[in-house]
Amino acid sequence: MNTLLYSRLPIEFVQYKQSLQHYKSISDDKWYWDSYRTVHMLPLYTPGGAVSKQGSRNSKGSGLDWTEYADVHTQEYFENNIFPWSTPKGRIILLKTPPGGSLATHIDCNRQTFGTRQHKLRVVLQGTVDSLIFVTKDGECKPKSDHRCAFIIDGSWPHYMTNTFEDWKYTICLGAPWDGEPTDGYTKLLNTSEDLIELDRSNLPDNYEQYFEDPLEREAKFKT
Ligand SMILES: [Fe+2]
Repeated sequence: MNTLLYSRLPIEFVQYKQSLQHYKSISDDKWYWDSYRTVHMLPLYTPGGAVSKQGSRNSKGSGLDWTEYADVHTQEYFENNIFPWSTPKGRIILLKTPPGGSLATHIDCNRQTFGTRQHKLRVVLQGTVDSLIFVTKDGECKPKSDHRCAFIIDGSWPHYMTNTFEDWKYTICLGAPWDGEPTDGYTKLLNTSEDLIELDRSNLPDNYEQYFEDPLEREAKFKT
């Protein structure tokens, strides 16, 4: 589990087209801009169901709830297939990237938690899975297949994405505070997962430190 970089779980989001239709109808002013990752975000499952940028920041607190933007298919997918084994529950956001747009290289944890288990769950509703690129000492590394299943990444690896699809890419993201706690259910899923990519942490690029988000900039972001 400590060497996991990417793994596809056997949990398909069957009704992704209905969800996409819903999310495409949500006006741009409901999305907020994350300047560190350079991506538009829509909060789906947050403390108290808050939809503001403040409400959707990572929270260790309990009381997570669906926001008014989360459609019924997304809720059912997570309630029935993901939450039964993901402990604790985590914040969920939706990302959207225009065709040709890129997420900047980033690390989805801070320096204090770097080196600990930092699993994140993703589901791509539209766009290609293999446009996600991990930066390693040996060069770039990416998933092999395209699908509408949940997959796990180690968010502490520097990674970026360039949307090579002809339309916007939409990705649902779970975590934090869920970080891959090895419950029985999660361990079983990982044992049946496919397309596993494992890498030893000695393969981190030498310059990985430059990709952390500046803590001061992060605080400033949530004050606006
Ligand atoms: Fe990320």
